[in-house]
Amino acid sequence: MENFTFYCPTYYVFGKGTEKETGKLIKKQNANKVLIVYGGGSVVRSGLLERIEITLQEEKIPYTKIGGIQPNPTDPKVYEGIDLCRREKINFILAIGGGSVIDTAKAIAAGVPYNGDFWDFFIHKAKVNEALKVGVILTIPAAGSEGSGNSVITKLDGLQKLSLRAPELLRPVFAIMNPELTYTLPAYQTACGIADMMAHIMERYFTNTKEVEIADRLCEGTLMAIIREARIVMNEPTNYDARANLMWCGTIAHNGTCGVGCEEDWASHFMEHEISALYNVTHGAGLSVIFPAWLTWMSEHHTEKIAQFAIRVWNIPEHTDLKSVALKGVKALKEFFISLGLPVTFKQLGIENPDIDLLVTKLHMNKGEKIGSYVQLGKKDTKEIYKLAQK
Ligand code: NZQ
Ligand code: ZN
Repeated sequence: MENFTFYCPTYYVFGKGTEKETGKLIKKQNANKVLIVYGGGSVVRSGLLERIEITLQEEKIPYTKIGGIQPNPTDPKVYEGIDLCRREKINFILAIGGGSVIDTAKAIAAGVPYNGDFWDFFIHKAKVNEALKVGVILTIPAAGSEGSGNSVITKLDGLQKLSLRAPELLRPVFAIMNPELTYTLPAYQTACGIADMMAHIMERYFTNTKEVEIADRLCEGTLMAIIREARIVMNEPTNYDARANLMWCGTIAHNGTCGVGCEEDWASHFMEHEISALYNVTHGAGLSVIFPAWLTWMSEHHTEKIAQFAIRVWNIPEHTDLKSVALKGVKALKEFFISLGLPVTFKQLGIENPDIDLLVTKLHMNKGEKIGSYVQLGKKDTKEIYKLAQK
C-alpha cells in the first residue's frame, strides 16, 4: 500500500425528510447571504426548490438564485455566478441537484475570491487558495460530487472539458441526501448514474499497487451492492431501501474511501470527457461505452486484475486461461449495462461516425502524451480503445 493523506470533512445528512434541515445547517456556517444554484427545472417541478427556500426564510437567511445549469456544465454560468456573488456579497453557495449543478457551484466558489480568470485553476495556471463554502442537496446519485473535491466544467470556446481538484477546499461542508428525492429520475438517468458510480470504483480498483486488500474488498463489495440494488431500482423506482443503498454507494464510490493507498487510473474518464465535450452525451452513458472497451483492451495487455474482477464481482469460474476469464467478466459487465438500457457502442450512444482522430488529438492535448497508470496509454493505444467502442 502507498502512503496517503485522506481528509474528508463533509457532514452527511442522510434519509427521509432531511432537506427540512437545510436552513439550520446553513445558519451554522455563518452565511451572510446564500446563492442557490440549480439545474434545468426538475427541482422547480418537484417543488423541492420552493421547500428549501421556505427553510431559509424560516431562519431569516437572505438568498438569491441562479438556475438553468445544463448537464455537462459550461463556463458562462460560472462567470455569471461569480459576478452575482461579488455584487451581492454572497459568502455561501447551496447546490440543489446533481454533478453539473454541484460542479458549477464549486467553480463559482473558487472563482469569487480569486483576482484572475477562474479557468486558470482548470488549466493549472493557478492553485485554489481560498473558496466560498458549498453545501449540497443531492437529487441524483451519479457523479459523486457531493463528497468529492473536484469540479468538471466545459469551456465552450474549444469545447475543453477539464477537471479541477482541490479536496481541502472544495469538498462540500454538508451534503443532504434524501433517497426519496431520486424517485422522479427518468430510468435512463438512473442507469447513467449507476454506470458512473461503477466507473469511479473501477478507476481505483484497476491499480498496480500491491497488497491493497482493504481497497480491493471495498471496491468489490460496493460494486456488488450497486449491481444488486440497481436491478431492484430499475424495476421498482420507488423502492426506498434500494434507492437509499444506491445513493450511498454513489458517494462511497467517489469520496476517496475506495482508493486510498492505491495508484489510480482515470484513463477511461479522460477518454469519456472528450466524448461528452464534443457530442454533449450524458457522462455515464459515455462511460458505459468506453469502460468495456478499455477493459477489453486491458484483458489483452494487463490481464491479471481484470480476471480477479471477473471472478470476484461477476462469479466467473476460475481457470488457468486468465484472458478468457477476464473477457467473460467484461462480457458480464456489458450485458449488465445493456440490461439497464445503457449504450455499449458509439452507435448506440447516437454517434454514428465518431471523429476518433479528433478525440485522440484533443485527449492528448489536454491530458499529455500518456494517460492512465494501470497501463500508460499513448495515442496509438487510445485510438485502438476508441475503435473497440465502435464494435
Ligand atoms: O437539470 P435538471 O432539470 O435538474 O435535470 C437533471 C439533468 O437533466 C436531471 N435530474 C437530476 N436530479 C433529478 C433529475 N430529474 C428528475 N428528478 C431528479 N431528482 O438529471 C440530469 C443530469 O443531471 P447532472 O447533474 O448532469 O447529472 P450527474 O450527477 O450525472 O452529473 C454529471 C456531470 O458531473 C461530471 C460529469 O462529467 C458531468 O459533467 N462529473 C463530476 C465529477 C466530480 N465533480 O467529482 C466526477 C464525475 O466523474 C463526473 O465527471
Ligand atoms: Zn464519472
